[in-house]
Amino acid sequence: MSDLIPQPGRYVGQPVDRYDGPVKVTGEAKYAADYAADGLLYGFVVNAEIPKGRITSFETSKALKVDGVVDIITHENRPSLAWFNSKYADQDAPPGNHFKPLKDDEIRCQSQPIALVVAKTFEAARLGARLLEISYHAEPFETNLEVAQKDAYEPRSKKSGFEKPSSRGNFDKGYERASKKIESRYMTPPETHNPMELFASTVVFDKKNESWIVYDKTQGTVNSHDYLVNVFGLKKDKVRVVTKYMGGGFGSGLRPQYQLCLAMMASLKLKASVRVVLTRQQMFSFGHRPAALMDLRLGANDQGELQAIEHKVVQETSRFEDYEENIVNWSGLAYKCENVSLEHKLAQLDLFTPLDMRAPGATTGLFALECAMDELATALEMDPLELRKRNYTDKDQAHRDRPFSSKELMACYDQAAEKFGWSKRSAKPRSMRNGKKLVGWGFAGGIWDAFHQKAQAKAIFKDDGRLTIQSAVTDIGTGTYTILAQLAAETLGIDIKDVTIEIGDTDLPPAPLQGGSWTASTLGTATQISCRAVCEKLFTLAKKLPDSPFANVKFEDVCFASGSMHVKGDPSRTLELQKIMKLAGESKLEEDGKTSPGLLDMIRFAKNTHSAVFAEVEVDEDYGMVEVKRVVIAVAAGRILNPKTARSQILGGVVWGISQALHEESVVDHRLGRIMNHNLAEYHVPVNRDIHDIEVIFVREDDTHASPIGVKGLGEIGIVGTGAAVANAIYHATGKRVRELPIQLDDLL
Ligand code: MOS
Repeated sequence: MSDLIPQPGRYVGQPVDRYDGPVKVTGEAKYAADYAADGLLYGFVVNAEIPKGRITSFETSKALKVDGVVDIITHENRPSLAWFNSKYADQDAPPGNHFKPLKDDEIRCQSQPIALVVAKTFEAARLGARLLEISYHAEPFETNLEVAQKDAYEPRSKKSGFEKPSSRGNFDKGYERASKKIESRYMTPPETHNPMELFASTVVFDKKNESWIVYDKTQGTVNSHDYLVNVFGLKKDKVRVVTKYMGGGFGSGLRPQYQLCLAMMASLKLKASVRVVLTRQQMFSFGHRPAALMDLRLGANDQGELQAIEHKVVQETSRFEDYEENIVNWSGLAYKCENVSLEHKLAQLDLFTPLDMRAPGATTGLFALECAMDELATALEMDPLELRKRNYTDKDQAHRDRPFSSKELMACYDQAAEKFGWSKRSAKPRSMRNGKKLVGWGFAGGIWDAFHQKAQAKAIFKDDGRLTIQSAVTDIGTGTYTILAQLAAETLGIDIKDVTIEIGDTDLPPAPLQGGSWTASTLGTATQISCRAVCEKLFTLAKKLPDSPFANVKFEDVCFASGSMHVKGDPSRTLELQKIMKLAGESKLEEDGKTSPGLLDMIRFAKNTHSAVFAEVEVDEDYGMVEVKRVVIAVAAGRILNPKTARSQILGGVVWGISQALHEESVVDHRLGRIMNHNLAEYHVPVNRDIHDIEVIFVREDDTHASPIGVKGLGEIGIVGTGAAVANAIYHATGKRVRELPIQLDDLL
């Protein structure tokens, strides 16, 4: 398969502008809530005001009197659903008893949706929702992980693909033997995804055919489709899900959100088209990055060689699902160490089930590990980068010592350190200054998985010289449209303007969820295979032509460039692709490209992306204010298809890492069991003023095993490690080790 690895060319490896840029900046791009329909009704969700208990009654009369209100759907009058008696799970569901909107009177979590007010206008629905009176029987609840941890348990079952943390060697012995030790507890808060686009579903009902087109905000059109079909017991071909553009997902669209279920429920009940859009406040009423309490112990000998690593976590989940992230396994993978002890426990809170958020697990776990490594470096009086280098591993010790498919981490260390000027760091905390400000330089490393999934794409080449690529996959804004167009144009040797990308539609060939940083490798491969098949078809047609210039050559002997096929080394033997089609009497060629995970490669190799992150902070001594002045990050992630979109992914990740360190927290009032800062004024994210220089370096990495096209993915690696680099820089600046995120000014006074 290695001949599929795309070589840098006219488009591949070039900073090609975004394919979807023009439609997005001109407002032409349609998002889920932008689609119109005849007689469209608007649903407004009502959320419970208590986190646990029962609904005793709804008083609907005032709400129903609002002009334009058509219906109020609750558990008392909803249609009966196929799903309520079956075991259906969506593609990203953790084990458990999945949440089913409006199932019964039970309130199982904070802000649970309990009613949908449907009206002829959004405003009427919203007013109706405000006038709905609800009585509850409240029950005791718990939303504080520090209290709930006493009941923590090891989950019995795992989501497929999730491994039990695997310990090795003898931690106690190794720790005992170590001459330098550290022991620390780290805490990370719940964080909420805040994509610009609100969750929305526009369900367009075709009365005549009893069928639906559903414009949904989702990272998986196929997932939302299967969800609707299974939950409502509908025929597969009666539902089509379309997601052309997304204003950010970050993981929040990996599971079908409740507005999708409620919009479809209303459409079925009222035989009408229905749109449900969540408000910004309601965006805080479902999945979020879970809070975690982590205990780490590290032991090393005098040379700084790790003798023992222990990483334990108690992570928040809901009452109804065992949501688990890979938080601790990284600590058995990152460094060479014979004695590793890992433990992952869950504790239930009366909040909605947490949900993957950019680099789920790694963002949390590596924050703790990389701060602990910094603490160990301090204990050893050793440079923190040197400590990493001494513990470098080229093997995955948790899996039979298998090698990495590629790992240019040393080059990341060196290139980023050089660019940052790390050698000029003075080791002592509080020893660097810029005028009145304390200056700190911190370092951390990052790891993420390089996944490859099963997917399909179709390439359609027409006699007008245009190529169309089709797949159900979505583009959450990462650049999927762009890289698919680059690969397609490069493979056929045509102008990128002659390529159309049609994605985000379940009428097109099936694709997995867009997540896990696997879309570029997965859909890139499927696209390239489909385009390669078109090339082969064109070659076969050209060869058969009378007086063919390709009569006695093999496919390997031709290349595709400038809209033509020609013999390698003999450009005079050439035919335009359009001409081949005309002469052969073909108007359209259609080829499928299929790909699936390389199982052998998965067994033989650990497949990961790596990063090295250096951060400079300035801390105002009087006020404790922190500014991250510089970040230099080097990333090794296989083949880079587009340095411009790739850089944007890493920039976004780094900004979020800074945010993790300094800003983000979903603040729960444990007396009320509610997230209090459920708006963009009080849920802090960085603004332009908070972000200064960020430099991104891509380290060259040739990998023939990570994926057939040598791509490893970039959506997530940028955030991993950045939070720890900032926290370590703050320690270096101030001498204060803050182990609880976010680090706020009162921590530093
Ligand atoms: Mo990502 S958290 O897999 O969308």
